[in-house]
Amino acid sequence: MSELNMKDLVSLCKRKGFIFQSSEIYGGINGFWDYGPYGVELKNAIKKFWWDEMVRLRDDVVGQDASIIMHPKVWEASGHVEGFNDPMVDCKECKSRFREDQLKNKEKCDKCGGELTEPKMFNLMLSTQIGASEDSSSTAYLRPETAQSIFTNFKTIQKTSRKKIPFGIAQIGKAFRNEITPRNFTFRSREFEQMEMQYFVDPESETDHYEYWSETRRNFFEKVGIPKEKIRFHEHGDELAHYASKARDIEVEFPFGWQEVEGIHDRGSFDLTQHETFSKEDMKYFDEATKRKFIPHVVETSIGADRLALAILCCAYHVEDLTKEGGKQDLRTVMRFKAHIAPVQVAVLPLIKKLSDEAKEVEILLKKYGFRTEFDTAGQIGRRYRRQDEIGTPFCVTYDFDTRDDHQVTIRFRDSMEQKRVAISDLASYIQGLIVEEM
Ligand code: GLY
Repeated sequence: MSELNMKDLVSLCKRKGFIFQSSEIYGGINGFWDYGPYGVELKNAIKKFWWDEMVRLRDDVVGQDASIIMHPKVWEASGHVEGFNDPMVDCKECKSRFREDQLKNKEKCDKCGGELTEPKMFNLMLSTQIGASEDSSSTAYLRPETAQSIFTNFKTIQKTSRKKIPFGIAQIGKAFRNEITPRNFTFRSREFEQMEMQYFVDPESETDHYEYWSETRRNFFEKVGIPKEKIRFHEHGDELAHYASKARDIEVEFPFGWQEVEGIHDRGSFDLTQHETFSKEDMKYFDEATKRKFIPHVVETSIGADRLALAILCCAYHVEDLTKEGGKQDLRTVMRFKAHIAPVQVAVLPLIKKLSDEAKEVEILLKKYGFRTEFDTAGQIGRRYRRQDEIGTPFCVTYDFDTRDDHQVTIRFRDSMEQKRVAISDLASYIQGLIVEEM
């Protein structure tokens, strides 16, 4: 990945409408990003795959979708009002603002070498006012993590789903942090989406749930196309979050270095105990098997959907030199997404416009099978293939004059650029087979 220049990726994302600045016509707003047509398909596919792996294919995890704004007391109980702070310093000369723990040199400004102010603790929660009055009693927070609503809903969901410990509750949703210095494209944003799962366990269980989830989650990264050598664990020592008794990150190697994409946290009984104290509701669980009543412990898996999307974009990006000897330079940009998360899985291309009606029927057939498709008639077939390579479409299906007689189409494969004739009647199952094989 070191050969990938972030500028090239940012430019491709903008040019192809994957991701671009929010409110761009007003000059953008720092720390906020929008996903265009291909970006949203990519992100939706990532989220769907996470949901399938974490909820749909398991018997021991159920889902929820909770509100972003919760009772303000939640954030007192969770420790975020008190402790969700980053140390902030300002340069007295150039007025740049930094997170002190991210400075290369804590004595001088990273930009101009000027003197720095003393660090001030800055709370990362974004607040808003609820209702018509604007006093402190109406202050509410945009959630800084989705996890808390899983804790507050624990008893209701456990009872209604009739799940027995160990079991998990999963959720995908937006979270907000007023980052001092948003940076590295979408990596550190102020609004982002989390995919979190809280697994409730018996504190006396002999199964090492923390290790199990660490391995399971690490394997997930390979399933979405992050190469093994770009994934590693980072064990937390002194930098533990206030709620964690043990934590490790799953880091990915980005062009800007190894960075956390997912956190695996042993939160112990911290959150449920806090909510029991603050709300006075009993958060204990009665275990029928052992006739014991206890506050379950929690192992959390917390991944940033946007960070994962960015990691996938970085790993997918390739430029190949296809220049023939003595010929004009020919560079092919190709996004090598795994087929199950590619924003467009199959492009249907009539060889010439005259064949559009028949070719469209092939596309409609593929859509009915659930594939994400695109229909493109503009330009020479070679240029259309290259256009699809740039957005990472793994399969192009070309409808030509022979198709009328033999009812076969040509599949062109993105990575090998090889081609193969396939009967239209076998097309959907053939492509489905290739997608599943690669998952
Ligand atoms: N829920 C853990 C985190 O937001 O990092």
